[in-house]
Amino acid sequence: MFLSKEEEAILNGEMGEGYRKAMELLVALGDIRGADCFVEIKSAHVSGVSYLTIGDAGIELLKEWASNGVQTRVPTTTNPAGLDMESWQKLGFPKRFAEKQREILDAYARMGVKTSCTCIPYITNNMPTSGEHIAWAESNAVAYANSILGAMTNRESGISALAAALVGKVPRHGLHLEKNRRPTFEVIVEHELKDPFDYSAIGYYIGQEMEGIPLFNGVRPGLVEMKALGAALATGGVSMFHVKGITPAANLSDAKYERIHMGTTELQEAREQLNTADGAVDVICIGCPHCTVEEVVRVSKLKPRKQTWVFTSRYNKKALEGIRLHENVNVIYDTCMVVSPLRDIGIKSIGVNSAKAAFYASSLSGLDVTFAPLDEMVI
Ligand code: F3S
Repeated sequence: MFLSKEEEAILNGEMGEGYRKAMELLVALGDIRGADCFVEIKSAHVSGVSYLTIGDAGIELLKEWASNGVQTRVPTTTNPAGLDMESWQKLGFPKRFAEKQREILDAYARMGVKTSCTCIPYITNNMPTSGEHIAWAESNAVAYANSILGAMTNRESGISALAAALVGKVPRHGLHLEKNRRPTFEVIVEHELKDPFDYSAIGYYIGQEMEGIPLFNGVRPGLVEMKALGAALATGGVSMFHVKGITPAANLSDAKYERIHMGTTELQEAREQLNTADGAVDVICIGCPHCTVEEVVRVSKLKPRKQTWVFTSRYNKKALEGIRLHENVNVIYDTCMVVSPLRDIGIKSIGVNSAKAAFYASSLSGLDVTFAPLDEMVI
């Protein structure tokens, strides 16, 4: 991999140990993935923010990096934390977890990272434009940025996104190259996809079964549905998709691709795979990825009969405070149903309409999950 004089100087430690470590990591990744050189980035978004997912080892790593005095070179935001830092006591979460969570957020802040704690930076406070190179972790945000905004990013890990933020560059390979961003197969959808649940189920099925870049044909998703689709696709090996007639790059090529057909059977199969509960639901959890204000209002209008927690970004707080929501709807900021220690407060089973939430809440957090459309769960 070609390095400029400045990049070599960083690698030799001339800017300090923290930057040296960041550059060493990026060069190693670039070499493994066949990058030819670095490309400058406009922003970064890091995952690995919840104490539930990174633990004490993660805290030590972040603190050590922060103690080297490093600062991010580009605007950098964070994924959700493990708690709503303003309401964790009211919800009964353990104090020790909150203290550990504070240490993590403080370490990021010391490095110049904006602790925004949301997985929808693309509609809140970190909005890249078409053609911009960025270094984002968080798979749903990667899919959204590549597919809908036309920004260019590989799916970074939390650590590689942070290293890129400190250096201001990433190795150029994969989705940073135009030639790798074209569709590799076409999906003909033969089932009418009505709401985010349907898009989530079909996205999950394809994400598990296929690799590459799908071109969807026969669907007309809005932004909320594409948010759900991207998140579900990214539970597997898909970091970018096109929708014929909708996403910006989808009509660039008339090339013929391998075609696969998706319908009711695949939708049903995804639903069955992701249901691990016997129907009992302690709490309905909506907001994977984080809800927009409109989604929160939509949930409230359904007048859920069960306790319903809606996870969203703190950037939506002002707008939501002016809206009267149904008594069973509890809005929670900064965190989500997957990275929050729900079992610590006695929650064992949740209902979700997101395939990504179903997949990880079950596999990472050990929760029983009902995966179903929202209007089925709220009655
Ligand atoms: Fe966001 Fe948590 Fe889902 S970080 S994409 S709500 S798993």
